[in-house]
Amino acid sequence: MEKTFFMIKPDGVKRGLIGEVLHRIERRGFVIEELDMRMITQDLLEEHYSELVDKPFFPSIAEFMMSGPVVAGIISGPEVVKSWREMLGATNPLEAHPGTIRGDFATAPNGGSIQNIAHGSDSLASAEREIAIWFEK
Ligand code: CDP
Ligand code: MG
Repeated sequence: MEKTFFMIKPDGVKRGLIGEVLHRIERRGFVIEELDMRMITQDLLEEHYSELVDKPFFPSIAEFMMSGPVVAGIISGPEVVKSWREMLGATNPLEAHPGTIRGDFATAPNGGSIQNIAHGSDSLASAEREIAIWFEK
């Protein structure tokens, strides 16, 4: 069965949306395989967002992502990688459709970063890479 990595970001945790996000995962029929609340370290963040580390806005992302605990997990189900991305909606909440997590619970970029409630791996290869970084070390 396909697996993907997901995370409820600090804004989602602070706003009390852990239950809401997990409810959507379960209601869809996906299975929560792993779940872990933790603070992100700079090292883990740089590995997780390795393609963004050199961007000028990375310090803003780092400040946001380390501003409080996250809930990281693995979910499984048929074509879960693509489906979970669809359930998240577009990166910029202003472009995310109603009915998606980002379209229902977030608005505009906030400060220097885009605070958009939750994360999902963008491909099978990313899912394997992120699961290894977060859960197999
Ligand atoms: O999360 P997603 O895969 O949709 O987007 P990404 O392009 O992989 O970027 C990862 C995360 O970095 C986003 O979800 C935003 O939280 C943040 N980001 C940002 O704050 N400003 C940007 N210009 C791009 C991304
Ligand atoms: Mg991404």
